[in-house]
Amino acid sequence: MKYGLFDDARREYVITRPDTPLPWINYLGSQDYFGIISNTAGGYSFYRDARLRRLTRYRYNNVPFDTGGRYLYLRDDTSGEYWSPTWQPVRRPLEDYTCRHGMGYTIIGSTFSGIAAEVRYFVPLDETLEIWQVSVTNRRAEPADLSLFSFVEFALWDAQDDMTNFQRNFNTGEVEIEDGADPGIGGVIYHKTEYRERRDHFAYFACSAPLAGYDTQREAFLGPYQGFDTPQAVIDGRARNSHAHGWAPVGSHHVRLALGPGESRRLIFVLGYQENPRDRKFDPPGSQVINKATVKPIIARYLDPAQADAAFDALRAYWDGLLGGFQVDTPDEHTDRMVNIWNAYQCMVTFNLSRSASFYESGVGRGMGFRDSSQDLLGFVHMIPARARERILDIAATQLPDGGAYHQYQPLTKRGNDAIGSNFNDDPLWLVLGTAAYIKETGDWDILNESVAYDNDDSLAAPLYNHLQRAMGYTLDRLGPHGLPLIGRADWNDCLNLNTFSAEPGESFQTTTNMDGKVAESVFIAGLFTLAAGEMTGIARHLGLSDEAARYRDAAAQLDAAVQAHGWDGAWFRRAYDHFGQPVGSQECEEGQIFIEPQGMCVMGGMGLKDGRALQALDSVAERLATDHGIVLHQPAYTQYYLNLGEISTYPPGYKENAGIFCHNNPWIMIAEAIVGRSDRAFDYYRRICPSAREAISDVHRCEPYVYAQMIAGKDAPTHGEAKNSWLTGTAAWNYVAITQWILGIRPAFEGLEIAPVIPADWPGFSATRQFRGATYAITVRREGPGSSASLVVDGEPLAGTVVPHRPGVTARTVEVTLR
Ligand code: BGC
Ligand code: NOJ
Repeated sequence: MKYGLFDDARREYVITRPDTPLPWINYLGSQDYFGIISNTAGGYSFYRDARLRRLTRYRYNNVPFDTGGRYLYLRDDTSGEYWSPTWQPVRRPLEDYTCRHGMGYTIIGSTFSGIAAEVRYFVPLDETLEIWQVSVTNRRAEPADLSLFSFVEFALWDAQDDMTNFQRNFNTGEVEIEDGADPGIGGVIYHKTEYRERRDHFAYFACSAPLAGYDTQREAFLGPYQGFDTPQAVIDGRARNSHAHGWAPVGSHHVRLALGPGESRRLIFVLGYQENPRDRKFDPPGSQVINKATVKPIIARYLDPAQADAAFDALRAYWDGLLGGFQVDTPDEHTDRMVNIWNAYQCMVTFNLSRSASFYESGVGRGMGFRDSSQDLLGFVHMIPARARERILDIAATQLPDGGAYHQYQPLTKRGNDAIGSNFNDDPLWLVLGTAAYIKETGDWDILNESVAYDNDDSLAAPLYNHLQRAMGYTLDRLGPHGLPLIGRADWNDCLNLNTFSAEPGESFQTTTNMDGKVAESVFIAGLFTLAAGEMTGIARHLGLSDEAARYRDAAAQLDAAVQAHGWDGAWFRRAYDHFGQPVGSQECEEGQIFIEPQGMCVMGGMGLKDGRALQALDSVAERLATDHGIVLHQPAYTQYYLNLGEISTYPPGYKENAGIFCHNNPWIMIAEAIVGRSDRAFDYYRRICPSAREAISDVHRCEPYVYAQMIAGKDAPTHGEAKNSWLTGTAAWNYVAITQWILGIRPAFEGLEIAPVIPADWPGFSATRQFRGATYAITVRREGPGSSASLVVDGEPLAGTVVPHRPGVTARTVEVTLR
């Protein structure tokens, strides 16, 4: 069953009923100011950091699930009937409803009792504000007297404190109100809690129309025992003109609309964030009144419909440009839609927000993950290389001098997070992959010479290349009894906690470490190391450091040998060794006999390709782990808690890391299958978790059909096939890599663009255009035989091999690929 449809021409998903199984959300903003918006206008906004600069309040795990947002109320002032044009919060049944989620904007429209309304929400490029463009049309045969009320609830900036420290917060709330005397600015509500002291920032909520009234105190607007669905001010058709002193500051404008038959009215609301210079905070100086000179021109600009429209057009053009850099035309509509639109879009969102703020990440818990953000680069580097470059340097600056990494850092301060700390032993290696991806995309070798601090301490600064060397050294300095990498707190699988042994409720699996960590080893990190060593070899070679290149090759061979000797279980790669030196992910185990991660990563690192073990491992995945809904993380699922394994065994079987379909690692298997040349298998796995391909079963899948979710419940779960934790997941970047670089086979390499497709046997071919280092590549792939052996003709000349060497200065290239 479906709840909407794809409109690919407009790059939108159109939701046709408001009661989706879960809120289906979208993101507003692309750089500093962000908002999350659901299909019924729920969600919140923040400036840069969802925890420390929260503009509007949102209560997670609410009832209904999605409560609080960018709300509007319409009221028929003749009958007294009122409704929400975005359905929530009033939830009066609407005569029609559509929500169009697009690239950085959301448009929600509906009709109730002959009154049509549409709201377009977006964040203009390079601004720290959001625009709500509203149009209301009277489709009745007679005049309509209407009231429109806006509503946002302000958060008192620090979202964590905002949800806990009420003895203080009920006293600090402050606002200023301008009721519209200023020409061109209808009415502006300023939220300035703590502006009197150490904050130099405030929020504002402006309306283009003359006001009939306003409210800034929540309970005055709602009534003391009423919810967002029954505000007393709306019921009465009369704002209270309330002024918040403490308690809960809100912003609500009341506008009266008298519309003749067929008449429309357009209004604009602007909600924004503004910082003032510390020495010019107040006007007049010495007063406590906000100096508004800095913000008034911005407000006036965007309350002008022509300017707002122009900003929207600029946003559309921006996305045309971003996505236009890589477009494909294949026999599969799902592939086209995901590659050309939604998967790329999701990669931008994960790049921006890491794992911080979604409807499942509360914005207070996690900042930017070292491992996560490094991987997010893989799906993003080609879109805005300059931002990828900055991110790599930011991440590297949090790296520790021993080569290790803070597991997370805060986006606002760009500093490592002490609360979580370090010792996730896979972390540093991902920086190597992210940096290699950037260089392959751009050819910008200079980045390796950038001087970058360690632990944000400039006195420890060294070239980025040195950071990568230390990342590799970090693994080699920490080998265990079998010569395999020690796992530390955890590797990619945060829940495989082999040194934790937690017996106390509430202890954090992320930070508790009881064992000295000198025994438990990870086969997965060995695979990841060999993959990273391949990149380092390529880099060292390019830099003319042949001895060093040889050392990375030797180190990779050393770990490969350790895996051959101790990491092979007979038909698949083992996962790890626990604190007692016992294998995890082995036939010897009662549960958790085979895990997905090492099968993917070891093959990607080049292990088992010559001796048949790679094929055997992948066959074991197909036999034991693959389901119709994707590949589960391990089997059998853990049916009880194991002290020596940790959080993985805390989840009920089939969920999350305990044998859920953890989508992030599925593309590793797709890539491994492509590497061994099994094109149909690779694509089959791609289709199983592809959101667009799952749209038809939206009632089972339940999450948005246009983006990946972190997890789909595995075969041991009672709700097999149900997705959870949509949007912020490494799944986005890795699936993008799997489909574009390995299945379609268009893969940046250090010396040029490699094109080596491994597409399904029944595809006659496909075409693509891709921008690469200043040139547009027009690529056509034609199948002439059943295999994946590719011959290339570049600009009319046959090419030896599959890497099209980069030619500086050439701006257009044609590549014809024949597959046999
Ligand atoms: C989740 C993991 C996550 C970890 C760190 C665990 O509860 O299952 O997916 O990586 O928390 O936040
Ligand atoms: C989500 C985390 O963000 C990611 O870093 C981790 O690899 C996976 N969970 C698996 O545990």
